[in-house]
Amino acid sequence: MVDEKEILSGTALADDVAVEPTLRPKILSEYIGQTKVRENLDVFLTAARGRGDPLDHVLLTGPPGLGKTTLAYIIAHELGTGLRITSGPMITRAGDLAGILTNLQPRDVLFLDEIHRLSPAVEEILYPAMEDFRLDVMIGEGPMARTMKLDLPPFTLVGATTRPGLLSQPLHGRFGIALRLDFYDVESLAKIVERSAKILGISITPEAAREIGGRSRGTPRIANRLLRRLRDFAEVAGKGRIDLPTAREALSRLEVDEHGFDELDRRILATIIEKFGGGPVGINSIAASLGEDRGTLEDLYEPYLLQAGFLQRTPRGRIASAQAYRHLGILPPRKEGSLF
Ligand code: ADE
Repeated sequence: MVDEKEILSGTALADDVAVEPTLRPKILSEYIGQTKVRENLDVFLTAARGRGDPLDHVLLTGPPGLGKTTLAYIIAHELGTGLRITSGPMITRAGDLAGILTNLQPRDVLFLDEIHRLSPAVEEILYPAMEDFRLDVMIGEGPMARTMKLDLPPFTLVGATTRPGLLSQPLHGRFGIALRLDFYDVESLAKIVERSAKILGISITPEAAREIGGRSRGTPRIANRLLRRLRDFAEVAGKGRIDLPTAREALSRLEVDEHGFDELDRRILATIIEKFGGGPVGINSIAASLGEDRGTLEDLYEPYLLQAGFLQRTPRGRIASAQAYRHLGILPPRKEGSLF
């Protein structure tokens, strides 16, 4: 049974983890979309390579599934260095991080995913490591305690987070390069789908690739997942390739609507409109009314609803847009003084 909630999630699922490494572009010129990020990163990589210096530390921010890990791989590949991958929740003690840092080769890239989840004690270790390639180790306790300073190989930290607002100021300030990934446009997603189809040996028409692109919430991970599910439908239907009618039929059976909204997206909009008169309403009230976690709404749902123009954020709370009313088939309230 396909779980509708899962098929549209930006977070990696088990079968994404298996296939994503084969789909990842390895060099920057193969990376589709995110033009500003790509062009700026190209300059920084070229300059660092030219000087023979390690690349400045890079902070990647943006919703899940947009390619933060892929960029870390590309950075290491373009620099011709090793890549070590870890994440905030995996580093529980300061010693864990010290062990990783002391084992890096000069100019290596350390990818630290979910960097906002580092404990304060681990963050303390990171500051001198990032700034001076130095490790401050405490030896002993009480009045006999001393700090020993260890030199580290120069390295590049690539930190990634879906919640830049949760990073402490001192940590944020130690990244020389900050790159923000945005949701992809339909054009770029269609190109990504066509590229992935080629790699996976799937035949798909340009129209069908575009249809997938338009229903993927601006997220390559979702587009690649829908491509694999649509291949299943096409194969079972005895079709040699995914064409537009096959794509539409399969997407409707997966209950992926024309904007890639799932059940909770629709419930969020319906709640704001039906229970709170269209807003403005605070995020806590929406979460309580839906029985959902505020963080889930803020991290996984709101960003796409905002960018797609269904929701607006004001100082007094969230407001459903006219587009949201239209999507749910509800007549928007007349604005005073408006002719419409
Ligand atoms: N696969 C996932 N994201 C991609 C991207 N931005 N470019 C090319 N292929 C991708």
